[in-house]
Amino acid sequence: MPKQLHRNINYLRVSVTDRCNLRCIYCMPKEGLSLLGHNDILRYEEILRVVRAAMPEGITKVRLTGGEPLARKGLAEFISTLTGLKGLTDISLTTNGILLADHAEAIYQAGIRRINISLDSLNPERYRTITRGGSLETVLRGIRKAAEVGFSPIKINIVLMKGTNDDEILDFAKATLRWPYQVRFIEMMPIGRDNTEAVTEYLSNDVALDRIGRMFKLDYLGENGAPENRGPARRYRIEGAKGEIGFISPISHEFCDNCNRLRLTADGHLRACLLSDDEIDLKPELRSGCSDEVLKALIRKAIASKPAGKSTLPGDPSPKKCRRQMSAIGG
Ligand code: 5AD
Ligand code: SF4
Repeated sequence: MPKQLHRNINYLRVSVTDRCNLRCIYCMPKEGLSLLGHNDILRYEEILRVVRAAMPEGITKVRLTGGEPLARKGLAEFISTLTGLKGLTDISLTTNGILLADHAEAIYQAGIRRINISLDSLNPERYRTITRGGSLETVLRGIRKAAEVGFSPIKINIVLMKGTNDDEILDFAKATLRWPYQVRFIEMMPIGRDNTEAVTEYLSNDVALDRIGRMFKLDYLGENGAPENRGPARRYRIEGAKGEIGFISPISHEFCDNCNRLRLTADGHLRACLLSDDEIDLKPELRSGCSDEVLKALIRKAIASKPAGKSTLPGDPSPKKCRRQMSAIGG
């Protein structure tokens, strides 16, 4: 049996650009980040070709990420071509929300319904510090617009950092009383950071759950999705709340067993595991006019190369390398 084990690899995350209009401390270095050249980035037609080839290999769900996907020109048109593909059951987007108010309508029209928005603080000054310059008000406006336009579900992602935003755990939890969104705490992962400025410490989601549980009565709602196709968030609801609280805990509660993902980087590399730099570069084949069969075989190879479990965590005697910045992988 290939290394995909019993996992059903049906979910492709596509980073459409490594560029971003923010520079979050846990994601990018302050300066000196080398960006991909225009020609290194897959063209939309090339991404589309990969998606089409991946469908017969089992991919039914696609999430567009970045960098910041809304910062790439022509995204709404590209989404329309994706939603036109028969066989994809789900197309979603992860964004920092800065450009969302401007684009919400167009991408909704293009067929996206599910959207995740990164929001690591509810305090304007702190938000500016974490994102190195972002405006909280702009994101909140984007979220309101997305709700108005009809996006559902709307998920808010918070990367928890000890000493930076962990004093806002209860504020975020309280926000679900009035926000009909899923607010999700994500454990920080040791990915591609080399900036000492962001010595932001890992905090286990168990701490967050415990703090919220002391303050509110929480109902456990389970995990997303059917058992064989489960998302990583463990979900709760405060009694009477409009929204939900989710915990994504790659470090404290490994979910590699259920991992259904494959990733396509902005420069055309297929990545079977977020935490491993083992990648298959599709660009040379794509650009030398390879057949669909060749492309499919490379996708099968990537799926088969999926490691059984993660291997780059603190204390691991043989850590795998993850040198790429998160912004080039897309989370
Ligand atoms: N650890 C955990 N999550 C991260 N993200 C970016 N970098 C990290 C990291 N080091 C999250 C972003 C976004 C998603 C795409 O990935 O907050 O919500
Ligand atoms: Fe941009 Fe998202 Fe990285 Fe922040 S986390 S710098 S918004 S890609």
